[in-house]
Amino acid sequence: ELKENTVIIVLGASGDLAKKKTFPALFGLFRNKFLPKDIKIIGYARTKMDHTEYLKRVRSYIKTPTKEVEEQLDMFCDVCTYVAGQYDQDEPFQQLDKHISEIEKGRKETNRVFYMALPPSVFITVSQHLKRNCYSKQGINRIIIEKPFGKDLGSARELQKALAPDWKEEEIFRIDHYLGKEMVKNLLIIRFGNEFLGSNWNRNHIDSVQITFKEPFGTEGRGGYFDEFGIIRDVMQNHLLQVLTLLAMERPISFSSEDIRDEKVRVLRCMPAIEPKNVIIGQYGKSLDGTKPAYKEDDTVPKESRCPTFCAMVAFIKNERWDGVPFIMKAGKALNEQKTEIRIQFKDVTSGIFKDIPRNELVIRIQPNESVYLKMNSKLPGLSMQTVVTELDLTYRRRFSDLKIPEAYESLVLDAMKGDHSNFVRDDELDASWRIFTPLLHYLDQKKDIVPMEYPYGSRGPAVLDDFTASYGYKFSDAAGYSWNSGSNN
Ligand code: BG6
Repeated sequence: ELKENTVIIVLGASGDLAKKKTFPALFGLFRNKFLPKDIKIIGYARTKMDHTEYLKRVRSYIKTPTKEVEEQLDMFCDVCTYVAGQYDQDEPFQQLDKHISEIEKGRKETNRVFYMALPPSVFITVSQHLKRNCYSKQGINRIIIEKPFGKDLGSARELQKALAPDWKEEEIFRIDHYLGKEMVKNLLIIRFGNEFLGSNWNRNHIDSVQITFKEPFGTEGRGGYFDEFGIIRDVMQNHLLQVLTLLAMERPISFSSEDIRDEKVRVLRCMPAIEPKNVIIGQYGKSLDGTKPAYKEDDTVPKESRCPTFCAMVAFIKNERWDGVPFIMKAGKALNEQKTEIRIQFKDVTSGIFKDIPRNELVIRIQPNESVYLKMNSKLPGLSMQTVVTELDLTYRRRFSDLKIPEAYESLVLDAMKGDHSNFVRDDELDASWRIFTPLLHYLDQKKDIVPMEYPYGSRGPAVLDDFTASYGYKFSDAAGYSWNSGSNN
């Protein structure tokens, strides 16, 4: 339920995340009237600036394509204020508390939502100062936190240990923004709301599952952060594993957040740690035409970096439903296209009447162009018995052309405002996910002789990729040049 009398405090209000995601999401919710009517939004960061300058900055974060949106932005600015202060001293946080209290004057209940759009280095100290100085005594307190939640199991536990004395688990909202994406939220409905899929969703019928994340750009100035983390920590341990979990978990008892999260943890606990032999890593070099720089040419990246910008890895789930089925996760930067999708390849039909008929595939496109399509064999219309690969197709922009798909961050911020934890990461879930990745990460960090394979900027990734997926049984079928039409012009 959405609480009136709420103040949102964005810590790190002048940083990159606030600019790109937090403020646009808050504005999106505000202008569509999803926030409480009396909402107030306070920014806090180290940069000293006055109110006018701050609002100028907030405005610069938000696009205003029409006059109407511009007017809505004016109204949004009316609820925004700013406090400047350090992250590691009590005094400025007391100032912040005073500012919040002034805004809350006359309210019987005072609810505070703290959004931490902060780098990991200041994260703990800020959460402690907030608890000491800004914690509301007459209402709810919530703290929204962003990844990275540690770098491995040990550091994630340290972080959790530092947070736990101050913030109860029910007050903490750990964002994995993939959980806010429309198609990711649809996974439970697709699986459990369709008997024909649900009954085939297991090792007897599914041969492999692929989850693919591709971006057509490199680190471009973000190399400083990226080099410390690499593609596995940046998107696989969190975003791709979340997708995998939703694909593999058992049916929750209900849609309540704890029932869902209980099942997620349960399936994660059936996954042994990823073994290095089931992993390939790559790093992008210059594009073939020489126009795009290699990863190591990024000024913020050390010249000898062995940081992976591409990885393909296979996870297994040791339970009755999935034993033996490879879950292939692939992620890369500076590839040939932008795409995140799930590809579930079914087993061959039993032999006999057909020779080499392609396998069914269920493809769930998370972005761009949300869609679900099932590649299916059919008779080519006409007098012969020739078969053709065709599809059952649910392309959102065709089927739901008049509906707007919300931004992931809009959806998640609203959930946090309502106190719904379903799409946030629980402490034991985080622990279980790091356990699966940590041995591999330590292995890669320690073995200095493992050098990522180079692939050209703008390519599909390291040359061995197709052999790698084929070695886990994936059959690529080029049946009569089949290609799915996304209905888009680009
Ligand atoms: C972030 C990663 O979590 O997700 C980025 O840090 C990545 O490296 C981004 O680009 C991808 O998010 P989206 O929503 O654009 O797919």
